[in-house]
Amino acid sequence: MGVYKIVFGVFLLVLIQLVTRPSSGVAMGSRKRGSVFRRHRVWDPIIRSPVDDPDAEAEENQGTRWAVLVAGSKGFENYRHQSDICHAYQILKRGGLKDENIVVFMYDDIANNKLNPRPGVVINRPDGDDVYVGVPKDYTGKHVNSENLFAVLLGDKSAVKGGSGKVVNSSSNDRIFIYYADHGGPGILGMPENPYLYAKDFIEVLKKKHASRTYKEMVIYVEACESGSIFEGIMPKDLSIYVTTASNAEESSYATYCPGTNPPPPENFPCLGDLYSVAWMEDSESHNLKRETIIQQYVKVKERTSNHHTFDSGSHVIEYGNKSIHAEKLYLYQGFDPATENLPSNQIDIHLRMDVVNQRSADLFFMWDRYNKMEDGSVEKRELLKQIIDTMLHRIHLDGSMEIIGAFLFGPEKSSPILNHVRQHGSPIVDDWECLKSSVRIFETHCGSLSQYGMKHMRAFANICNNRVSREAMEDASKAACSGRDLGQWDPTKRGFSA
Ligand SMILES: *[C@@H]1O[C@H](CO)[C@@H](O)[C@H](O)[C@H]1NC(C)=O
Ligand SMILES: *[C@@H]1O[C@H](CO)[C@@H](O)[C@H](O)[C@H]1NC(C)=O
Repeated sequence: MGVYKIVFGVFLLVLIQLVTRPSSGVAMGSRKRGSVFRRHRVWDPIIRSPVDDPDAEAEENQGTRWAVLVAGSKGFENYRHQSDICHAYQILKRGGLKDENIVVFMYDDIANNKLNPRPGVVINRPDGDDVYVGVPKDYTGKHVNSENLFAVLLGDKSAVKGGSGKVVNSSSNDRIFIYYADHGGPGILGMPENPYLYAKDFIEVLKKKHASRTYKEMVIYVEACESGSIFEGIMPKDLSIYVTTASNAEESSYATYCPGTNPPPPENFPCLGDLYSVAWMEDSESHNLKRETIIQQYVKVKERTSNHHTFDSGSHVIEYGNKSIHAEKLYLYQGFDPATENLPSNQIDIHLRMDVVNQRSADLFFMWDRYNKMEDGSVEKRELLKQIIDTMLHRIHLDGSMEIIGAFLFGPEKSSPILNHVRQHGSPIVDDWECLKSSVRIFETHCGSLSQYGMKHMRAFANICNNRVSREAMEDASKAACSGRDLGQWDPTKRGFSA
């Protein structure tokens, strides 16, 4: 009798396995991965057990996976950066990374923002589920800053100010994944509180981390405008770090799932995600990351981010650092979700074209969208219009001031070619990074805060330094362009300097 029961039991188990396998696909569909993938999902006919997995043994011998996730902006109009970060957390969490090993930087003003159509919830795609649930709030509000980020990366708990105090306390056998989503400009990445993160300082931190022998390998994904400029010409190849960026050193990166574009977000949401970011995340969650390599993901993300090689509204995804690392499997960094066991590695063609919005226009895009939907004659509507006009006028003022400064320094004819000059491929945007910072401070003192939009002028500041303009000359030029101007809300003594 006993034997029959066991045999019957085993038979039942096998049956249950067979029945539940396909239904795990249904479960994933119900997680509302978008139509993009649902349509194209390809099932691997071979059901593998973990014992056949050649990687299983290697996995046992490996160290801890760490992750640092950074949303560098704030404000509801920048919804997408924090939403990207929350989504990344969900992928890593499902991949088996522990909360104690994932450090999250986000301003945390989105989920409970009064403009949020779904209070307490954050989504990263039009038909997506809540990605906010369970996200650790390690560094929020003003504690999202570059000093804390550097201290966290270096595992220097005593240098951290505020926040949970969680740091990357890694050892020589561990792997680290860093993902950053934000605005940027040549040589800088944004932070919700000034100052911005300067490329040179970030690379120095990576070198220090390497010198401390506290990781085996590291993978860094960066979404921002001109994100290539953070690494171009300054990222060493011998730090055991592999990097991909959403754009090259001289172009915008793009927001997607934006109001009025296709596919649009539901209700009154602003842009839900960024093109490169959703491309890697939607790729990761629809494949078996024990089979997919980093380069497979890179190729697919590159294709999708270029909007299928058109680049008319898309950017060039670029690799930096040690490129040998891209032959490794993704699960070493992003973990492995058992629900993806029978999904293939990346072999899906995504033919869907995504509409996009330039990162730097996305905030105005959202404000105009809100304005148009508001009730005519309301106080709120008038105030919003004033805010839109203030923002647009400040942009015009920044652009105009840069033109005057350029003409003052180099003469009206040479100004534009000098300020917009793009150095040879493989060169950093500037040699003297201290000069770059001081030029920005001088400019902001007289002309007001660069703000998110003004980040685009970083190349002009870099070229001013590359042409060995003295401090005094920069000071005179900035005074000439802006003296006597009421800086109002753009006063850097109130907002902090961005350098
Ligand atoms: C870091 O990890 C070591 C062991 O790996 C442990 O002894 C130490 O307490 C940890 N430090 C922090 C700040 O968590
Ligand atoms: C790049 O990474 C590979 C794989 O980890 C390693 O073997 C190689 O030595 C690294 N190259 C450099 C220049 O550090």
